[in-house]
Amino acid sequence: MRGRDFISIEDLSADELQVVLATAARLKSEGYPNALAGQTLALLFEKPSLRTRVSFDVGMQRLGGHTVYLPQSEVGLGQREPVADVARVLSRYVHGIVARTYAHQTLVDLAEHASVPVINALSDESHPCQALADLQTINERKGGVRGVRIAFIGDGNNVAVSLAQASALAGAHMTIASPAGYRIPEEVMIGAEEFARASGGSFRVIASPEEAVDGVDVVYTDVWTSMGQEDSYERRLQAFAEYQVTPELMALAHPDAIFMHDLPAHRGEEIVDAVIEGPQSAVFDQAENRLHAQAAILLLLLGEATE
Ligand code: CP
Ligand code: NVA
Repeated sequence: MRGRDFISIEDLSADELQVVLATAARLKSEGYPNALAGQTLALLFEKPSLRTRVSFDVGMQRLGGHTVYLPQSEVGLGQREPVADVARVLSRYVHGIVARTYAHQTLVDLAEHASVPVINALSDESHPCQALADLQTINERKGGVRGVRIAFIGDGNNVAVSLAQASALAGAHMTIASPAGYRIPEEVMIGAEEFARASGGSFRVIASPEEAVDGVDVVYTDVWTSMGQEDSYERRLQAFAEYQVTPELMALAHPDAIFMHDLPAHRGEEIVDAVIEGPQSAVFDQAENRLHAQAAILLLLLGEATE
């Protein structure tokens, strides 16, 4: 995987996904090698971040490398200068570019013009690094991902898209419950169905949260209003009113089911305290695993080919 970009879960084969997860588990249990000494990673962020920024920063340092944080207020990606110029300039200074953007096309343009690997740290369309940490967490809690039943409740957003692709690639049985008008894009659905057919998993999108969580091993939700969608906040509150993950909804899942959320969480909207603070919640393991899953990606894209 050395030298490649990581823009989407679809950039990985099923085998490569397992290599990433195995590498992440190894880093977590055995510690971090000094494999990226002398390398520098640019962290280019158009949107706020806690987990993604800190975990890439700390992960790169633990692998022996350095980071440069570049907020949009400084860089003016596509405003102060063209995306293609930023990509070519940064490629002369750093060994990799981690970018969080509004438009997914900005990431695609960065990757096209950069001569170093570009990693998607969340765009309006997808959040593949989150999905890697999610699968690592499911692996740890459920002893694997293949055959695990996952329900995602709520908005068919960037987090749902990458989780759908990763789950389907890894052979899970995934159901997304979203209201009409908020489903994941049609082409993502078709792609996830294809992945699931090949992996022995399954994938479907329905309307009913109750039907989606029936007997599942994992209940996952994310915010109803993502970064950049604040203008539609009120409309979304109404559209998702029946999609809150409550103790009553959790009671329909398998008794050993875990609750997952990528964070930040909006308590009182998509989730309530009784669930996110309860014994089934795995949200801080998920947050920790961002560190290990992304370090695995850094090692595989930037490290020596033997890693
Ligand atoms: N889950 C996640 O990506 O969090 P941040 O927005 O804080 O990076
Ligand atoms: N769907 C959320 C994820 C935040 C990590 C957003 O895009 O704001």
